[in-house]
Order: sequence, then C-alpha cells, then structure tokens
Amino acid sequence: MTAMDRTVRPEAVSDVVEQAGSTMRAIVQDRYGSADVLRSVRTARPEFGAGEVLLRVRAAGVNRGVWHLMTGRPYLLRLAFGLRRPKNRVPGQDVAGTVVATGPAVTGFAVGDEVFGIARGAFAEFAAARSDKIARKPASLTFEQAAVVGVSAITALQALVDTGRVEPGQRVLITGASGGVGSYAVQLAAAIGAVVTGVCSTPKLDLVRSLGATHVVDYTREDFADTGHRYDLILDIAGLPKLQRLRRALAPNGTLVLVGGEDGGDWTGGTIGRQLRARATSLFSRQRLTSILAKERAGDFERLATYLQAGTVIPSIERTYPLEEVPDALRHLEAGNVRAKVAIAVLPMGTAMS
Ligand SMILES: NC(=O)c1ccc[n+]([C@@H]2O[C@H](COP(=O)([O-])OP(=O)(O)OC[C@H]3O[C@@H](n4cnc5c(N)ncnc54)[C@H](OP(=O)(O)O)[C@@H]3O)[C@@H](O)[C@H]2O)c1
Repeated sequence: MTAMDRTVRPEAVSDVVEQAGSTMRAIVQDRYGSADVLRSVRTARPEFGAGEVLLRVRAAGVNRGVWHLMTGRPYLLRLAFGLRRPKNRVPGQDVAGTVVATGPAVTGFAVGDEVFGIARGAFAEFAAARSDKIARKPASLTFEQAAVVGVSAITALQALVDTGRVEPGQRVLITGASGGVGSYAVQLAAAIGAVVTGVCSTPKLDLVRSLGATHVVDYTREDFADTGHRYDLILDIAGLPKLQRLRRALAPNGTLVLVGGEDGGDWTGGTIGRQLRARATSLFSRQRLTSILAKERAGDFERLATYLQAGTVIPSIERTYPLEEVPDALRHLEAGNVRAKVAIAVLPMGTAMS
C-alpha cells in the first residue's frame, strides 16, 4: 500500500465537506519563532489517514506544548517535529469539533459525532485527528470548554492518579496550580478527596482557591519548603524549586512527581537532568521521586469525561479568542498572564463571536 492509498482526500468522502469547498481558514507557520511567525491564511484542508477522522473544528485550546512547537525550543524537539521548519504548518493540538468524515479503518465514530481530544493542526476550520486520541464530548460542556481539556487535563490525570497514586485524605501540594495543567490537577485532587495546597503568584490566589485548594501558598512571599508542612504527594508542575527543597516538603514516605519546568535551557528543556537526578536519588530513599511524560490516549479522555459530566471538574477559561487572534493568545501565555486556560473559537465564516 502506498502513502497515497492510506490517505483519504476529505472532499472525496463527505458531502458536508464537499459543500463547503476544499479550502479552509487556518493559522500557519513556515518557520520557528515568536508569535509573529503565525499568519492567518486560506489553505487546503488536511488529508487524513485510514485510522483518522476529519473534524470540523469548533474550538481549540492553547497549551505550553503549542508554544514550544511554535518557537522550536527546546531544540531537541526539532528532531521529531522538523529541523529547519515545522513539518506540520498548522499548529494547535487540543480540539473539540464535529466529525465530518471518517477513514476506512475508523470504528466507533460516525459523521455528526461531537468529540474532543487531540488533533493535528487544531488552529483551523478543519483538522485530522487519530481516532485513538479523541472521545465523545460530554453533552454538558460547550465546545470551548471541551477544547481546553486536551493535553493539560490528560497530564494532570496521569501525574496525579497513575503516577502519583493519589488517595482520599492525602495532603497534596501542587506547584503551578494556576496554570493549564495545575488548574485540572487541583480540581481532580479535590474531587478525589485529597486536601490540596496550591502554589501560585499573588494575583491568582483566588483562582486557585476557587478551583478547590484548601490552602494556597503565594510563591512571591513564602517558600512552601519553609512552612514546616509535609505532603504525601507533590506535583511539581512549575518546575522551579530545587529537588532538595521539594524533598524537604515531602513526607518520609511521600511521592514527588516532576511534571514541568521552563528554565532548563534552549537545548533539552527544563526537566531531563532533574528527572534523572530524582530517579537516581529515589533508589536510596524511602521517598518516591519520579516524573511523567504524558501520553495522549482516548481512554484518558473517557476517564476525564466522567469528572466533566459530573461537574466535579470544570474547565476554567479566562478568555476566548477568535481564530485570527491565535498569536495574541500565545503572547498572553508567553507573558505568564493566563489564568488556567484560554480557548480559541473557530466559527464558520461570516459568524461573529458574541
Ligand atoms: N510532563 C509532561 O508530559 C507535560 C505535559 C504538559 C505540560 N508540561 C509542562 O508543564 C509545565 C506547566 O504547563 P502548563 O501548561 O500548566 O503551563 P502554564 O499554563 O503556562 O502555567 C505555568 C504555571 O507555572 C507557574 N509559575 C511560573 N513562574 C513561576 C515561579 N517563578 N514560581 C512558581 N511557579 C511559577 C505559574 O504560576 P503563576 O501564573 O501564578 O505565576 C503557572 O501556574 C510546562 O513546563 C509544560 O511544558 C509537561
């Protein structure tokens, strides 16, 4: 089978797609750099593989990963995503939309289904998505809410539940509690019955409390390692404190999960060295020091849907931008100003945002 055989041209499969023509509005980037490299253009709709669906994108989410892929930093990621320029010109991962066509190997999804999860090139009117990276959208969620679940919520779930093995009643400390991943981690931990302490900056203390944190620590005024409190589980999403400081705040049998960090330099990024040191230290300690690299799995979106449907986790959206303003959304993220999540609304041409 050739690559062409495996790829299905969207206009050949669906009347819905056919009616609207074969181009779309999209944000594209032809080089790595700041948000200035992003342009809004009309371009060809994406092709999709046998195991993929074509989505009419209704909303997209913005996350740190998209910012890394836009800037091409750390440089290590260019080995996978394109040495000189991004292999995929249309950025965007987190998505919610309606299935308008399905590849021949797709089972479980049909034209008209409303879904959310991860797509290739979500900052566009149409995007291809692997059927094993999407799930049915909970009916109670708007498309914008469903779109901002994406990588952030999956990471929080895997860090807290799968790697951190959180249990009801445990004392859990979460750094980066006001960010994308943290906003889900705080809510999930509280929903599971943990007693949550969230660490963030002064203007976001109220947000973190409102997400379900029982205690908050303002890192601009206080170092949580000096408070005398010990935690059964620490999720280090912000990635700034030294390992020794984190261990000092960890109970003797506690678990530390390293999730993120942005201060590790341009080549390999924040956490590789720390992760290796943590795992080596763990060999000689009662404390379990570990890290995660989140996996994009449909099953985890289904697990999250249970919390989302029940309303125990509610995507927290600070602001919604129209598609053309994706560069502004990424500038807002880069400046560190986002409170939890921002969404991108992808409306049909001629529709104005309310
Ligand atoms: N391991 C994985 O698989 C995985 C998956 C997804 C993301 N990540 C990584 O996780 C990290 C967080 O991602 P995100 O999407 O949540 O980012 P985000 O939305 O930009 O949030 C960043 C968080 O870091 C906090 N922060 C910034 N400077 C700080 C400082 N000096 N001290 C303490 N906290 C500080 C921010 O708090 P304030 O805004 O209150 O200052 C905010 O809560 C990133 O490094 C990302 O690359 C890893």
